[in-house]
Amino acid sequence: MIEVKNLKKVYGDRAVISGVSVSFEKGKVVALIGPSGGGKSTLLRCINGLEDFQGGEIHVGGEVLHPGGYAKNKRALLALRQRVGMVFQTWNLFAHRTATGNIIEAPVHVKGLSVEAATKRARELLERVGLSHRADAYPHEMSGGEQQRVAIARALAMDPEALLLDEPTSALDPERVGEVLDVMRALANDGLTMLVVTHEMKFAREVSHRTLVLHGGAIIEDGPSHDVIERPTHERTKAFLGHTR
Ligand SMILES: Nc1ncnc2c1ncn2[C@@H]1O[C@H](COP(=O)(O)OP(=O)(O)O)[C@@H](O)[C@H]1O
Ligand SMILES: [Mg+2]
Repeated sequence: MIEVKNLKKVYGDRAVISGVSVSFEKGKVVALIGPSGGGKSTLLRCINGLEDFQGGEIHVGGEVLHPGGYAKNKRALLALRQRVGMVFQTWNLFAHRTATGNIIEAPVHVKGLSVEAATKRARELLERVGLSHRADAYPHEMSGGEQQRVAIARALAMDPEALLLDEPTSALDPERVGEVLDVMRALANDGLTMLVVTHEMKFAREVSHRTLVLHGGAIIEDGPSHDVIERPTHERTKAFLGHTR
């Protein structure tokens, strides 16, 4: 459902993604791991249409992105951003809106849902992320873990075909990491397609079906998560995993 073909991304004269081809199946959870600067965030941002790129193609659920940014891809970008949800390391909720207010924002203003219908759905989503009791709380009244769960509910409110998460637990206090991983685990069990950049190797090994290792803008390892994490073949992966154990 997501296919990246020979993707090239350059900053100045430096290639940060150098000819990556990879496809992601519907209903599968893929972990993206690897050392800092390897290109993980850039890959996700290209797939979500947040970054222009200089070569290759990205196919997402029937839409195709080409190099050329907004000017060349306007229609595809508008469609694609409704189909792919993104969750960042820091959650960036609207500070002046409640949990429910944050979740209904895009369904009402982008999809044209009625406030009533969007609010009903928001209630279901809050229950799904274990936050029914926080529907009327403002971001500053919630912990980081709660805010990140609201951010996940907000992304799900657009009924995305895939959810891309970029280090969703990295900014959390250690005691809050588990509650966010639990939500992601439940979504995985429900068959949601997810691409997750993570340093949580236990999560990658137990929840993701497949693990990709990005290094220097290339995929140096790709296979079933258990194999990649327990028996990496590439020296760079061995060194990286050695550090995270
Ligand atoms: N806006 C930018 N301008 C210039 N270089 C960037 C920019 N964003 C990322 N990079 C560079 O691209 C490379 C890949 O970065 P990134 O995708 O953030 O890696 P990762 O998420 O794996 O840590 C890094 O070398 C980084 O410094
Ligand atoms: Mg990153």
